[in-house]
Amino acid sequence: MNANEVRQKFLDFQVKKGHKVIAPAPLVLEGDPTTLFTGSGMQPLLPYLLGEPHKDGKRLCDSQPSMRLQDIEDIGDPRHTTVFEMLGNWSLGDYFKKEQIHNFFEFLTKEIGLDPQKIYVTCFIGNEKYGIPKDTEAAKIWQEVFKKAGIEAKIAEIGSAENGDKRGIKEGERIFFYDDHENWWSRGGGCESTPIGDPCGPDSEVFYDFGEDKQDVEKYGLSHPASDGARFMEIGNQVFMQYRRLPDGTFEELEHKNVDFGGGLERITAASIGSFDVFKISLMKPIIDKLEEISGKSYDNNTDEMRVIADHIRGAYLLAAQGLVPSNKTQGYAMRRLVRRAILRALDLGISTNFLSEIVPIVADNYAGLPDSILTHREVALETLLKEEVAFRKTLNKGLKELRRVAHVSIPGSRRSLPSPRGSRANPRAAALRNPPELDTCTTLTGYDLFKLQDTYGFPLELSVEECYHQGIELSKDYQAEFEKALKEQRERSQTASKGMFKGGLEDHGEQTVKYHTACHLLLAALQNHINKNIAQKGSNITADRVRFDFNCDHKLTPEELKAVEDQVNEWIDADLPVVFDEYDKKYARDTLKAHGEFWDKYPDVLKVYTIGDFEKPISREVCGGPHVEHTGVLGHFKITKEESSSAGVRRIKAVLTKEES
Ligand code: ALA
Repeated sequence: MNANEVRQKFLDFQVKKGHKVIAPAPLVLEGDPTTLFTGSGMQPLLPYLLGEPHKDGKRLCDSQPSMRLQDIEDIGDPRHTTVFEMLGNWSLGDYFKKEQIHNFFEFLTKEIGLDPQKIYVTCFIGNEKYGIPKDTEAAKIWQEVFKKAGIEAKIAEIGSAENGDKRGIKEGERIFFYDDHENWWSRGGGCESTPIGDPCGPDSEVFYDFGEDKQDVEKYGLSHPASDGARFMEIGNQVFMQYRRLPDGTFEELEHKNVDFGGGLERITAASIGSFDVFKISLMKPIIDKLEEISGKSYDNNTDEMRVIADHIRGAYLLAAQGLVPSNKTQGYAMRRLVRRAILRALDLGISTNFLSEIVPIVADNYAGLPDSILTHREVALETLLKEEVAFRKTLNKGLKELRRVAHVSIPGSRRSLPSPRGSRANPRAAALRNPPELDTCTTLTGYDLFKLQDTYGFPLELSVEECYHQGIELSKDYQAEFEKALKEQRERSQTASKGMFKGGLEDHGEQTVKYHTACHLLLAALQNHINKNIAQKGSNITADRVRFDFNCDHKLTPEELKAVEDQVNEWIDADLPVVFDEYDKKYARDTLKAHGEFWDKYPDVLKVYTIGDFEKPISREVCGGPHVEHTGVLGHFKITKEESSSAGVRRIKAVLTKEES
């Protein structure tokens, strides 16, 4: 069965069961700053899952193109893709577990023709801390369903996926209970990471068994559904959205219980043809065939590279066809990264000239079935991508040449056959000097080297890092900090230069409002310093006249506490601290810079971080879109005018900025 047939069968089946087909949303969701891209079918439906009535009723379905860049490093294995279509059906306070489970099983076995013996399922084991019970209801329904198909399904209690390590499957087991890392769904992950306000709940996942011979026992132990390895592949997830997270961290039952089903079109299609490799399905195979033809190399010997290229070009095409263009910011940057990574992997295959013109039309054909309502720019997509390819090859040639020159590496033929540089570790620079650049040896590169490559040649940091990895070029262990330092020094040199620009930003946003925005960051830092380091922002409202700031706190602040906070903010204002920002990779911002942020799971991969005070020892460092003032000295005098309760466990401060102390 090909993917177009599976998509159509799913939609027809759901219509037969009373659902209305809704149009999928674009990959870039207007008015949702929390994520870069639509990452699941439920995302555009959030308001309806929280109770708002939908114009098309209580039973909806669609096939939603989705993109999850958090999986980008996993591309290359047989099943991960950054872009995929999520088949979805929803009950908005209508049917619940029983109907959903029966229907999905019917779809898989009757419509797609999967062998019921190859279907394994998982359910939620419960969470004591949050008082959420074990989902025995779902497990019982599954037993009924399997029984009807002539299968006696036994239940296994696994708990965490690691507990099951090497355990395998005991005779007759088919239903597995796991904890919230596996079987709880929210946009943030498990119970603990569920974002405040979001709908969430236990889920029941469905796995396809590709056979015992696919388990790599030496590497992963004996398989069970949630374990690593190629034997089991998740093909669908039924979320029973029956809770919502409250600001105090607990969960309340939703008045209307919803079903949020998501199934991977590519994965279900792969199961339908018995292939554990999703790159063998109709949406992918023609791309792989073309890559084999252009490179003269086989997929079997170059699977990783070909999978990355196929995946990334699919993603880049979808974005281009929705009107996005590559840039150095947010979604445009993600798109640029996809194109660039694809081109780099093509180089690994020996494809060193423009090749997108041969691949993109194949991808475009594959996506002919998607509605025009989202692919509004199909006709310019090829041109957009070709332009980017040409520009990148220029950057690449200059940058790669320079990187190799700096590292003193000679690159004859295969990029991966280079020896590891470990032999020259003891004194790499001396070793490099002794050996002329044309010998197979290299020196350790520092963050300063990488900064120069980016600054002078436009060769981005992460590409340098990737390239070094693939070439076996060693990086100094502090390369990230060194890179940052170089960046900071450069920023300091050009501050004067950017002054005019920033002023423009200020005027656009209203000078006074911007001052209050910066005051908010100082206020949060002061609260963390003087009241409790775990205080986080729970909301804010800024006008040109005052700031209203909500934060978690278990008590009413005393007059002494309020004074300490107020004095602290004024002390920082008087110190006239610098306020600087830059864009960073999310992981780096969180783990290395330790920036304060509330919604790490929802942030885009590249984000803006504002730092107040000394860069190494900041007063405040927060993920924030800005704008802010350049120096705290311009804020005036900070005065708290009110402290009150906002909601359970959340306090509210109102404050003003005055010209002088009064
Ligand atoms: N929203 C659920 C998921 O993304 C179906 O897995």
